[in-house]
Amino acid sequence: MNTTTESAVTEAELAAGRRAYELDRKHVFHSWSAQKQIKPMTVTRAEGSYVWDGEGRKLLDFSSQLVNTNIGHQHPKVVAAIQEQAGKLCTIAPQYVNDARSEAARLVSELTPGNLDTVFFTNGGADAVEHAVRMARLHTGRYKVLSAYRSYHGGTALAVNVTGDPRRIPNDYGTAGTVHFHAPFLYRSQFHATTEEEECRRALDHLEQIIQLEGPSAFAAVVLESIPGTAGIMVPPPGYLAGVRELTRRYGIMFIADEVMAGFGRSGKWFAVEHGGDVMPDLLTFAKGINSGYVPLGGVAISDEIAATFADRAYPGGLTYSGHPLACAAAVATIGAMREEGMVENAARLGDTVFGPGLADLAAKHPSVGEVRGTGAFWAVELVKNPETREPLAPYGASSPEMNTLIAACKDRGLLPFANFNRIHVVPPLNVTDDQARTGLGILDDVLGIADSFVTA
Ligand SMILES: Cc1ncc(COP(=O)(O)O)c(C=O)c1O
Repeated sequence: MNTTTESAVTEAELAAGRRAYELDRKHVFHSWSAQKQIKPMTVTRAEGSYVWDGEGRKLLDFSSQLVNTNIGHQHPKVVAAIQEQAGKLCTIAPQYVNDARSEAARLVSELTPGNLDTVFFTNGGADAVEHAVRMARLHTGRYKVLSAYRSYHGGTALAVNVTGDPRRIPNDYGTAGTVHFHAPFLYRSQFHATTEEEECRRALDHLEQIIQLEGPSAFAAVVLESIPGTAGIMVPPPGYLAGVRELTRRYGIMFIADEVMAGFGRSGKWFAVEHGGDVMPDLLTFAKGINSGYVPLGGVAISDEIAATFADRAYPGGLTYSGHPLACAAAVATIGAMREEGMVENAARLGDTVFGPGLADLAAKHPSVGEVRGTGAFWAVELVKNPETREPLAPYGASSPEMNTLIAACKDRGLLPFANFNRIHVVPPLNVTDDQARTGLGILDDVLGIADSFVTA
């Protein structure tokens, strides 16, 4: 959805933006940042696939913010549903039934694979992961958790310890019982693999070996992003997710599919685990795309077996805002809009016909592109200093002056990118038009020309 009746940015909007910036710098404490070193961009307006910055510049949003505005900004059907719900019932304690939550839970059960028929709603993704792990521990009576390096599962105490990227390190006191393993990533293979098949088989052997070395009966859960998102959109090779499912069954371990970023259409299917064939996780965590982030919401979809554990035994956990009516009404309207407007199909089509071929062309043309990979509206461009050695354009866990130059160049040309370490991700709303998608790729082409000048080989 993109507006056709766009008004010019007014002086009042710009003044409000300047005031917001001033107050922000005085009073707002930002996530993951050295507070004095940041110059956050002001957003004064957002609509469809665009945002406007504090200087009134219009930027094509190829980030979907934190990969959550899957239906774009200010979708009128969802805005109207939130307004309607606000007029009816803004909030209610979680022990009471409300129609928005009941319908949102029904829709999640209908869309998720297999028998994930019960839903516990949370405030976002991290607490969804926390609760999924807690459920798995109580269900199995075991404590330890397996998760992948190069993963992100959230910023709260347990979720950040389950995380496999450098954000874990300053937060990890070693108490989480988490053991990390290498998931498949052929371009930087830990297993000296040269084909997807080898990478898949060796990654599964490695996982099994870790389970055996650490004590097969110790593990409550494997937590795995069905497609790792922030860590680099490494689409698992065919057979990997099914292999993990088989291993977890064999050792009595619960399989938690983290679909916080990859879910709700991002990958071109409702849930990314569906790319792995007939794989049914025991627990599935979601957030972001469930309602495009219009109101904070996450949750855990629970298998009938795990739900049965808590049929006559109280679940020791809860949240004041579990199933918040405004968030759930936004979820119902978002899923409705996605279905009516064929957004998941559009993401799949864009991946096959625009992003896949377009990014492959960029990779062929620019020596700074080590690899492009992805599916649907979920793509990563891996930037390197040297295509032979694959030395990344920024070290793992950090940015670099070169990457900062590229991000600034994107913005100067009207593109808001999602960047992490040495990568630029192409993750626009699922309903971005073909023209907008091509415009974004065109800007990227131009910016990659600058990236090529950093190549030293
Ligand atoms: C895969 C995954 N899991 C969990 C989270 C945490 O979600 P939240 O930031 O809503 O707590 C994220 C956030 O980016 C994520 O990408």
